[in-house]
Amino acid sequence: MTLKKVRTAILISGRGSNMQALVKAARAADYPAEIVLVASNRPEAPGLAWAEAQGIKTVAIDHKNHATRDAFEASLQHTLEAAGTELVALAGFMRLMTSVFVERWRDRMINIHPSLLPSFKGLHTHERVLAAGARITGCTVHFVRPEMDEGPIIAQAAVPVLSGDTEATLAARVLAAEHALYPAALSLVASKRARCDGEKVIISQDLNPAAPLYSPSL
Ligand code: GRF
Repeated sequence: MTLKKVRTAILISGRGSNMQALVKAARAADYPAEIVLVASNRPEAPGLAWAEAQGIKTVAIDHKNHATRDAFEASLQHTLEAAGTELVALAGFMRLMTSVFVERWRDRMINIHPSLLPSFKGLHTHERVLAAGARITGCTVHFVRPEMDEGPIIAQAAVPVLSGDTEATLAARVLAAEHALYPAALSLVASKRARCDGEKVIISQDLNPAAPLYSPSL
């Protein structure tokens, strides 16, 4: 039986390294999602050129060419629908979206954030983690809700903060975990092994006790 893959669009604003991790994972025959679109609100985003070179459909929807947030979101919605999008993955997408747009994609839009939510929401995460003296940080994949970096948590990876860390060294260590976690989390959602039950996520997969820093296991 051939697997019916979930049609997934990725929204980026820049580098797109998480998008690349998702695209590479989705090349596997048994991966439950296919990447049907990479869209960026910044036409110059390096990730857009990379995706195009892979033969993926890419679209730039420049927010500066839209008079209002509603107009921008209408273009985005049209683009997502035209691609037959079933699931949206935000990957370094730096636009806040209206609650109307977010509710339209409720439980069908996921995001990755470079901290162990609900701690350290917002920007400049690693700088604030270092200033707080935290010993463990990490990354989180969650369903998107209208409030920034809020929503039911799908998966998290814990990453140690080492003495002597700078923002750059910590960001690199967390980013490596993001690249493993995001494809695993998208797989859980696309295969329906992770599903929203109100504001919590139910995971129908056993944890691997040998990998206690990852929950669920990768
Ligand atoms: C990542 O750290 C992600 O967690 C955050 O923005 C950054 C995007 O990096 N939301 P990239 O564009 O995926 O390389």
